[in-house]
Amino acid sequence: MSAAIDVRDLFRVHQTPEGDAAALQGLSLTVREREVVTVLGPSGSGKSTFLRILAGLDRPSAGTVRVFGVELGKLPAADVARYRTSTVGYADQHYQRALSPELTARELVALELGLAGATRAERLRRADELLERVGLAGKRDARPSELSGGEQQRVAVAASLAHKPKLFLADEPTGELDAASATLVYETIGELVRAEHCTAVIVSHDPESTLIADRIVRIRDGRVSEETARGTGAQESIVVGRGGWLRLPEELLRRSGIHSHAVAKLQGHEIVVSAAMQEGVVPENPTPTVAAPRDTRVIAETRNVRKVYGSGATARAAIDDLDAQFPSSALTAVTGPSGSGKTTLLHLLAGLELPTSGRAVVLGTELTKLGRAERARFRSDHVGYIGQQPGLVSALSALENVELALAFRSRPLDGAREALAAVGLEERAKQRVSRLSTGERGRVAIARALAPRPELLLADEPTSRLDQANALAVGALFVRLARDFGAAVVCATHDPLLIEQADVILRLG
Ligand SMILES: Nc1ncnc2c1ncn2[C@@H]1O[C@H](COP(=O)(O)OP(=O)(O)OP(=O)(O)O)[C@@H](O)[C@H]1O
Ligand SMILES: [Mg+2]
Repeated sequence: MSAAIDVRDLFRVHQTPEGDAAALQGLSLTVREREVVTVLGPSGSGKSTFLRILAGLDRPSAGTVRVFGVELGKLPAADVARYRTSTVGYADQHYQRALSPELTARELVALELGLAGATRAERLRRADELLERVGLAGKRDARPSELSGGEQQRVAVAASLAHKPKLFLADEPTGELDAASATLVYETIGELVRAEHCTAVIVSHDPESTLIADRIVRIRDGRVSEETARGTGAQESIVVGRGGWLRLPEELLRRSGIHSHAVAKLQGHEIVVSAAMQEGVVPENPTPTVAAPRDTRVIAETRNVRKVYGSGATARAAIDDLDAQFPSSALTAVTGPSGSGKTTLLHLLAGLELPTSGRAVVLGTELTKLGRAERARFRSDHVGYIGQQPGLVSALSALENVELALAFRSRPLDGAREALAAVGLEERAKQRVSRLSTGERGRVAIARALAPRPELLLADEPTSRLDQANALAVGALFVRLARDFGAAVVCATHDPLLIEQADVILRLG
């Protein structure tokens, strides 16, 4: 089979007044025709940049990108536009932006074909066929507002494939969905791209996405670092770059106690890499354990809390008779299946919602007894909240966003830099949020909530858009906030990396 995508030594440098970022640094990758590739990699490693270049939305700074024999870097602008509308089908996490609210599912899918000059009958036939394939034939007359997030995304995926593109690209298509809907969306993508004979490149943090892939490619620092072919039982192979560069997985480095320097020795035909022992330096414990908290007190608690949504026949209890305590100096992980009331519990503890019955008490104050304005003041004084959407001011820099949160609470602004450094964004601090990658934005939101050092920190799936290394780092940061300042940190999460680091696990549902 011939190569659908052939990328060699691709560089992309983003130049901005706030500083340059080398998003891609010599990335090379070949994708066969009809192959489905999932791209994984840490936040800021260049995944979205790579996908945007493949989609013809961004241009390479250097290197070559050939898609179906066409070199994108040399294509005149008009041809790039044609390439985008005929060869590429593109989906990202913002399905709401992709779907006009006044159109039905059928019209939305047919619309994509209208642009390609098909007759109305043809368009509707094709729309029906695609909606049938994504399991939404029964909802073809529904408008986006009448569909769930997962259903809207399946319509968006069907629409992106209506014009029979040869290349399907998706950037974290389930970034805004819960786990159950995400699974369905990936199954839909897998079936559809195979039925339509597409070549597909999908960027994701969701392990679910790798189940539909023929090959998994990892990107690090703007280069391909590892590749795994699925189903062959083969080990993950590490890509050896030009000049012998190869990147070892963090997990291996951690377990072998390798930190800043290593030595490599040839043993027979194998290379053994081990930690370089510097004089007087004792190797660090490869898995540092933080002592369990002592002398804790209850920071927040729920007493007989019940929260019902809807009324009459449609009433449903999201939380039923919950007695739970959240201790100081500890990280509590709240887990449970989709719909088990995790976000609701965080809302109740933040005083964003009130229980139908029972009491939510934080720092001895019964939130139920406070008015709306008093609850807002209480929140601003004592509670940090990290929602599923980062909710940042995109025209301001990362630093300004964090400073704003401190200024709002009349706290000194110098904590802002420190908080950004703690989430690994020291170097990106001055960059405008609109120019940051998805995971970087998520980390700014974490820094913003941490900076005022709240006594109660609530976080809703804080690692869902982060890679493993960043997820571990965020967990460690939460534990540190708890230990150093006696905060109660409560995370709603289904991420095993975060649950592993928790002192207390509360299972709902
Ligand atoms: N328009 C831009 N201007 C300046 N810097 C940018 C721009 N776009 C991306 N960057 C920077 O380039 C790097 C790579 O960004 P990219 O969005 O490709 O990362 P990513 O791998 O998709 O990360 P994530 O998983 O967090 O979405 C990041 O450090 C980002 O801040
Ligand atoms: Mg991205």
